[in-house]
Amino acid sequence: MITVFGSINIDLVSRTARLPRPGETVPGSEYQLIPGGKGANQALAARRAGANVRMIGAVGNDDMAATALAELDAGGVDLTGVQRRGNTTGMAVITVDDHAENTIVLSPGANAKLSADDIAPGSVGVGDTLLLQMEVPFEQTLAAARLAKAAGARVVLSIAPFLPVEREAFADIDMILVNETEAGDLARHLGLSPGSTGAETVSRLAGELKRTVIATLGPDGAVAATTEADTISVPALKVVPVDTTGAGDTFCGVLAALLDEGADLATAMRRAAVAGSLACAKPGAQPSFPLREAIELSLIDDPAFP
Ligand code: RIB
Ligand code: NA
Repeated sequence: MITVFGSINIDLVSRTARLPRPGETVPGSEYQLIPGGKGANQALAARRAGANVRMIGAVGNDDMAATALAELDAGGVDLTGVQRRGNTTGMAVITVDDHAENTIVLSPGANAKLSADDIAPGSVGVGDTLLLQMEVPFEQTLAAARLAKAAGARVVLSIAPFLPVEREAFADIDMILVNETEAGDLARHLGLSPGSTGAETVSRLAGELKRTVIATLGPDGAVAATTEADTISVPALKVVPVDTTGAGDTFCGVLAALLDEGADLATAMRRAAVAGSLACAKPGAQPSFPLREAIELSLIDDPAFP
């Protein structure tokens, strides 16, 4: 069982030929309201990959809440741990340009009111996975990690969006997930110099933190370091990117799902990278996340198989 403790948002998405500069107005497409949030995205990606998933999060007492939860609900994620707190559901204002680049402004709303006490006592235990990100109050995320670790669960933290996490904070984290930028930021924050490749950077981080560190590398796939000397690289799928929003979340969710079912790290990473690629090929975050069947089919079609 995977428990995701994290954010639930509405994504207000407009497409534009190019992103506006400060002070500039550019014409946008008709906007869309799409369920998002890094926590919810990871929960749905894990569920679509076949895991049993419970979401612990908070939405507001507004009309946006139902939309924010619609895909999770339809996908069969357990929502009994989702709270209603305050007036507003988290809202991410997203602009995507013709090159699939995006900017995101996030108003946290109810996400700021999530507490580790919202995790039902005894609900996370040995053999379970707790999946965490950085869009709810960090001290609550750490408290969630502490209780899950003490109960014998595997604890996975995606450091997105990046915040300077102190060394001590990793005590209850088993696995750290970053993108290439976050890997560099984390290395610098810890006083290490980032490597010239993603593999070098994650090796240094794994050596320093004594934890498995995995970085997604966009079209270059993903790389993990279990120790400084031991790395695993997997390729991405070749796709024409349309919208990369949530692709990293897809990777995290699918990785957790595969590890939760007992797959080894390389097998889990390979599928997670393919799923992230597939998500880039379609607009929006949650609507673009693949089902397990689609992931496995792409692996067969891919020349780099297995
Ligand atoms: O990682 C993508 C997500 O980040 C979006 O769905 C948006 O809600 C922001 O939180
Ligand atoms: Na997408």
